[in-house]
Amino acid sequence: MPPVSTTECRFITVEGIDGAGKSTHVTAMVERLRARGREVVHTREPGGTALAEALRELILHRPMDALTEALLIFAARRDHLRQVIEPALARGATVVCDRFTDATFAYQGAGRGFDTAVLAQLEAWVQEGRHPDLTLWFDVPPAVAAQRLAHARVPDRFEQEPQRFFERVAEGYRERARAHPQRFVMIHSDAPLEAVRAQVEAALAARGL
Ligand code: TYD
Repeated sequence: MPPVSTTECRFITVEGIDGAGKSTHVTAMVERLRARGREVVHTREPGGTALAEALRELILHRPMDALTEALLIFAARRDHLRQVIEPALARGATVVCDRFTDATFAYQGAGRGFDTAVLAQLEAWVQEGRHPDLTLWFDVPPAVAAQRLAHARVPDRFEQEPQRFFERVAEGYRERARAHPQRFVMIHSDAPLEAVRAQVEAALAARGL
């Protein structure tokens, strides 16, 4: 399945460490795009299909080694791409995906210390050249994110990690942003809600969205 060109910016991903506060803004972004007449598929990873959501439950809650974790995440991604993302892009829809492969490089690569050359190989096999057109990266100091998470519901396997894990994950995102400056937009999310919303709107408007 060769990737359809989405130069008009139709595959949008949203990233950030746990507690970065992206959820509210993703919903607002989807509403904005729909209000402009676009068909928008709002989805997430790991997940987005029945199979990938079942894998998500295992990934978030069952103990496993780093390679198993990486393989399950990419298995879920493969199903999601084939069942949802590629068909949506092929019919002209816009896809807004809460987390994608940058999360794998940040969490499994930088966070867990898993070999990024292996991740890059899996990325190439699974995605066959498909990459996001735009990635909104919600950046927040890990200490602020930890405070926000302290009020969260029962933590999953990732949310239970100590702050130093999230410091590595944040650094992993920074590296990805440096490597892909043309698609990454950093959103300073340690700011009042309205100020964060304004940054998101500016990033979309700059791409005609
Ligand atoms: P998240 O998307 O933050 O959902 P919720 O807001 O419901 O907690 O949770 C998914 C978790 O999975 C998050 O902690 C990051 C992790 N994750 C990875 O470790 N690697 C990946 O490739 C992806 C997509 C997510």
